Amino acid sequence: MHIKKTRLLTPGPTPIYPKALHAMLGADMHHRTQEFRNVFLAVLADLKLVMNTAHDVLVLVASGTGAMEASVTNCFSPGDRVIVCSAGKFGERWVEMTRAYGLNVLVLEAAYGKAVSAEAVEKALTPDVKGVFVQASETSTGAAHDVRAMGEAVKKTGAIFVVDAITGLGTMPLDIDAWGLDIVIGGSQKAFMVPPGLAFLSISPKAWARMETAKLPRYYFNLQREKKFAASGESAWTASTALMLALNEALQYIKSIEMPKLIANAEQLARATREACRALNLELFAPGNPSASVTAIKAPEGLDSGVIVKEFRDRFGSIIANGQGEMKGRIFRIAHLGYFDAADLFAVIAELELILHANGIPVTLGTGVAAVQRVYAEIAITRKELANV
Ligand SMILES: Cc1ncc(COP(=O)(O)O)c(C=O)c1O
Repeated sequence: MHIKKTRLLTPGPTPIYPKALHAMLGADMHHRTQEFRNVFLAVLADLKLVMNTAHDVLVLVASGTGAMEASVTNCFSPGDRVIVCSAGKFGERWVEMTRAYGLNVLVLEAAYGKAVSAEAVEKALTPDVKGVFVQASETSTGAAHDVRAMGEAVKKTGAIFVVDAITGLGTMPLDIDAWGLDIVIGGSQKAFMVPPGLAFLSISPKAWARMETAKLPRYYFNLQREKKFAASGESAWTASTALMLALNEALQYIKSIEMPKLIANAEQLARATREACRALNLELFAPGNPSASVTAIKAPEGLDSGVIVKEFRDRFGSIIANGQGEMKGRIFRIAHLGYFDAADLFAVIAELELILHANGIPVTLGTGVAAVQRVYAEIAITRKELANV
């Protein structure tokens, strides 16, 4: 076959919602005009709505890591005692970052594929702890953390709970206000279906109060300054007009399907992927606490996951993710967050079967796809039954 379409199927950047891509053509505007202020204010209001929080939400021109750094520099002082829950490459990023800023870091570590328990956090929460950092969904391993239980523990203390929900938002329920999630960080290139370049974060009154006394140096990412500008529909520095137009359009789509259904979509795709793995005798990397944002799968014995990733690209034009760091070559990752549908998954699993088969792994073609189809049919039937009630 001679035509193969390029398909972006990674856990970030994710496939772009087409109308968001088209909206970027309108970026021929100045960011300090009423025309753009209207877009800016609409984006902030809609982010608040879909994140389901009464807390302030701010947008920064940065990839997700920029908002992670902003949470550190704006809320902490040199030498502050903090807890970092680390269960993968992004947990390690929290460790590196908090140490780089001179915080006194206690690392609660879980093996790759596992999660740090809320009990461990509760036990470590001595009165001197000023902050707790975690990933809601650890994208490098496909594991999820119980941020609800952690939040319940942290909110009884003076510590600020900082949640990297860069791949958690839109893939798992997060009751930001009720669970005591003081800072919740998202990124444009994940479930929000637009290109990389915007980070956003919700900020609780407890976190704002902390900023009054936090002493770490900051300049570009100054959240108090951003808040003042945001009140009138502007950002402190030049806004990314193109990405804001795109996000505005994607948020209309997310509102139209509603956030709980976007989450359910990811959960259903993740469940179907796990069923396909079972049918194909493939082992999951995080079976105990799987995230719905991405499923990490162990490469079969004797086959490097890099070969699988390469063959996805070379044979079918499908871009999927390899493992990161030490996991490179051992796992591959299938994403579910944002603009992914059942047809994407039918294709991915069919391609995977063909790749395994071509590499001498015993698979009966169609078994994985059938497993996905069964999950699809079961969901469709349930929906029909509900419609008839
Ligand atoms: C859980 C998590 N945290 C942080 C990041 C870093 O975000 P960025 O690459 O946008 O800076 C990512 C990106 O993949 C992520 O998945």
